[in-house]
Amino acid sequence: MNTSAHSTPLSSNRHLLRWVEKMAALCQPETIHWVDGSQEEYDALCAQMVASGTAIKLNEKHWPGCHYVRSDPSDVARVEDRTFICSLSKDAAGPTNNWVNPFEMRKKLKSLFAGCMRGRTMYVLPYSMGPIGSPMSQLGVELTDSPYVVTNMRIMARIGLPVFKEIDKEEKRVVPCMHTVGAPLAPGQKDVPWPCNKEKYIVHFPETREIWSYGSGYGGNALLGKKCFALRIASNMARDEGWMAEHMLILGVEDPHGEKTYVAAAFPSACGKTNFAMLIPPTHFKRQGWKIWTVGDDIAWIKPDANGRLRAINPEAGFFGVAPGTSQSTNPNAMAALAKNTIFTNVALTPDGGVWWEGMGTQPAECLDWQGKHWTPEIALQTGAKAAHPNARFTAPASQCPTIDPAWEDPEGVPISAIIFGGRRATTMPLIYQAFNWSGGVYMGATMGSEMTAAAAGTIGKVRRDPMAMLPFCGYHMGDYFRHWLKMQRTLSETPRVFNVNWFRKDEKGQFIWPGFGDNMRILKWIVERSRGRTAAKETPIGWQPHYEDIDWTGLDFSKEQFEQLQEVDRAAWRREVIGHEELFLDLHDHLPPEMIYERELLICRL
Ligand code: OXD
Ligand code: MN
Repeated sequence: MNTSAHSTPLSSNRHLLRWVEKMAALCQPETIHWVDGSQEEYDALCAQMVASGTAIKLNEKHWPGCHYVRSDPSDVARVEDRTFICSLSKDAAGPTNNWVNPFEMRKKLKSLFAGCMRGRTMYVLPYSMGPIGSPMSQLGVELTDSPYVVTNMRIMARIGLPVFKEIDKEEKRVVPCMHTVGAPLAPGQKDVPWPCNKEKYIVHFPETREIWSYGSGYGGNALLGKKCFALRIASNMARDEGWMAEHMLILGVEDPHGEKTYVAAAFPSACGKTNFAMLIPPTHFKRQGWKIWTVGDDIAWIKPDANGRLRAINPEAGFFGVAPGTSQSTNPNAMAALAKNTIFTNVALTPDGGVWWEGMGTQPAECLDWQGKHWTPEIALQTGAKAAHPNARFTAPASQCPTIDPAWEDPEGVPISAIIFGGRRATTMPLIYQAFNWSGGVYMGATMGSEMTAAAAGTIGKVRRDPMAMLPFCGYHMGDYFRHWLKMQRTLSETPRVFNVNWFRKDEKGQFIWPGFGDNMRILKWIVERSRGRTAAKETPIGWQPHYEDIDWTGLDFSKEQFEQLQEVDRAAWRREVIGHEELFLDLHDHLPPEMIYERELLICRL
C-alpha cells in the first residue's frame, strides 16, 4: 500500500502527479493510498468497511464474496437538482441543465474542498472506461475519500496498476475527478457508518473535462466514471470528436444460423434496460436456436469505424442495477450475475445473513429493512413500509452474467445495426414502429416521453420529455445534441435502422396489454429482420409497423385484435402528442436544428 504522493506508481506522468499533490494540499487527507486494483486490496478495503460499520459481510455459503451496505437515508439516489453543467456560457449548457458561472462555482468548490478529507484517506483511483488499451476507451483518475467508492468502482470499471501504466504511456488524456463525502473528521472523532453532507454538488466543467462531486457517497453521484464521465463529460468529447456517448444498453441477437445482429437501446432510468439486455427468449425461439447476448445494460459509446459502420463499446465493467423487481422469473441472468462478489446497497438483510428485496420472491418472515429497522410482512401490510429502498442497488461484475457476449470486451466494439428508443407510456405509443429514415429516427428519439410516476389504473400519467433518455445526462445544449445526431449520419456508409418500442401500453381497465419480458423477443426478431431488409412492414402516419403476420407468435396466445389495439395510431392522441413535442422544442428553439421542424411538419401532414 503506497501511502504518500512520493510513492506513486506513476513513472512519467509528472503532470498528474503534480495535480494529486495539489489536490492533497487542498483536501488535507491524513494519508494517500494509490489504488492498485488487486483482489488483496479489495478484500482489505471490504474488511475495513466491515470494521468501521459501513458494510456487513454476507453469509459466505449463500452469498460468496458479497457485502451489504446501508447508506444514510438522505443519500439514496442521484440528485438532479444539485447536478451542474458549468460551461463557460449558460447558453452552451442549455435550458435542460442547471448552470452556474464556472468562476463562481470554482470558488465555491475550493472553499468546500479545503480540508474536506481531514482525518481520512485519499484514494488515488485510476480507471479506464472501456477495455484498457481500446481506441474507444477513456481514462480518468478519481481522488476520493470513500472506500465504498473504490470497491464499487473496482466492479464498475477497470482500475488500478494497468491503468496507471496506460496513463504513463504517451501522457494520455486523463479526466480529473474530485470526490469527497464532505465529512472531515476532527482528531479522535468517531466516524459514522455512512458519512455524507447535507449540502451536495455534482459539478461538471465540460471545456476542461473536469468533475467535482461533493457531499454524497451514493451511486451516480460518487462513482464518477458512470453518469458524470461516461455520459455528461463524454457527450461533450463525443460531439467534439465525432462519436456518441449514449444512455443505451447493447445486446446481440444470434439467429439459428449463428448470425449475430447487435442493437443499442435507449430507455429512461427504471424502464427495464437491464431486463431487456439480459432477455431470455421464449421456449420456441430457444429451441430454434435464437440467443440473446449481453454487451452492456446502461451506457454505450458508439463510433464510426474506417468503413463508416457504427461500432459500440460498453464503457463499464459491471452492472449497477436496481434490485427491487429483479427475480429468477423477471431476470435470472441478473440473479446469476449478482449471486457472488456483489455489493448490495439499501436492500434488506435477512436473519441468516442474506439479502432480500420486494419482487425477489418469497418474503422472509422477518428481516432488517434498508434503514436497519425490524420488518415483517405484517408490518408492511399495516404501514406500507418497504424492506428495500425502491432505488436499492446491486453492484455486480458484468463477467458473471451467463449471457455476457464473448465480444463484450472487444477493443473495436461491436457493429450496431439498429437503435431502439422506448419509454413508459400507457397510451398513444404503439408497441413497435420503425422510423422512415435517420432524421425521422432522430425526431423519434428527440421527442421521446416517459411517465414520471406510475399512472393510477386507467388514468394517463404525466409524461416527461426525455430526449434519447439523456435528459439528466446530456452535458451540453439539447438542441446541439440533436444536431450532432443528425450530423453523425454524414459520416456513415451504413445507417442503423431506428425503432420505437413501448412495452407499457394499457387497456381501458388499466391493465398492461403486452406481456413483456421474454416475449419482447418477438418484437426484437422483427427489428433484426427489418434491419437486414428481410421482412415486410406497412406504412402508417408515424412510421413502418409490422403486420400481425410479420411477428412470430408461436407459443403465445395473442390475437390479431389485441395486436391491433397495441399498435393503434390514434390520430387525435397523436395530435396531442405533437403539441407535447412542441413544448420541448419551444424551450430549445434557438438551438433546434431545422430538420426537427421539418420532421414535425411532415408528421402533422401525415396525421
Ligand atoms: C442509472 C440511472 O443508475 O439511469 O443507471 O439512474
Ligand atoms: Mn442509467
